[in-house]
Amino acid sequence: MSEKGIFDIHCHIVPGVDDGATDIEETRKLLRMEYKQGVRNIIATPHFRFRMFETPVEKVKEQFKLVEKAAAEISPDLHVYLGCEFHSTMEMLPMLREKKVMTMADSRYVLTEFSHNSEENYIHERISALLSGGYKPIVAHIERYEATRINLDFVEDLVNMGAYMQINADSIIGKDGFFTRRYCNKAMKYGLIHFVGSDCHNSTQRITRIGEAYKMTAKKLGQDYADELFIHNPEEILKNKPHVD
Ligand SMILES: [Fe+2]
Repeated sequence: MSEKGIFDIHCHIVPGVDDGATDIEETRKLLRMEYKQGVRNIIATPHFRFRMFETPVEKVKEQFKLVEKAAAEISPDLHVYLGCEFHSTMEMLPMLREKKVMTMADSRYVLTEFSHNSEENYIHERISALLSGGYKPIVAHIERYEATRINLDFVEDLVNMGAYMQINADSIIGKDGFFTRRYCNKAMKYGLIHFVGSDCHNSTQRITRIGEAYKMTAKKLGQDYADELFIHNPEEILKNKPHVD
């Protein structure tokens, strides 16, 4: 384990803004769990999805201040940043430009979610649009969508276009079943994965096991590869140019 610790770039720890942490006590529990897992940098990614999670960005930012305070109380080396898990829509570009939703830690990276049954053409078109707009799309948990799950060639096309791929820690360690774990291993072996997130929502069921996933990845695919996914690629997000238009 690096002394600087690992990153979690996908989690729902901001209280009262989506279906993640319900209050600041739950946020504190999740932060402590993350710290125990070896996480020292967190990008909090509340959902934005029309007709489901539409918390205004001002409110999200206000609630995020509570997360910053809670993290500082746990340890000075626990750093938190704000992002968003943005469910794909035709309004993405104007919303990003008008700063109605957050990019990842104020960078050009956008954590982009699709529906389980989104079609290849639609995913391809939305990723192209984000790239043309100067953004760096990270496709959230690619093991969940039919289009990416049944066809790794399609995933490779997206990567060749310039998109980044994220999988969940629980999928790596087998909490989401044998076939999901096998899919993730294959995608990692082919070099198609760039990021891992815990996607934790609460301290009871959808918890963080990202440290376990880091160790398992290091054991199976080597320490350097694990460090790339859990430390170095996430560092690139923080180093990325500020989100300016
Ligand atoms: Fe999520």
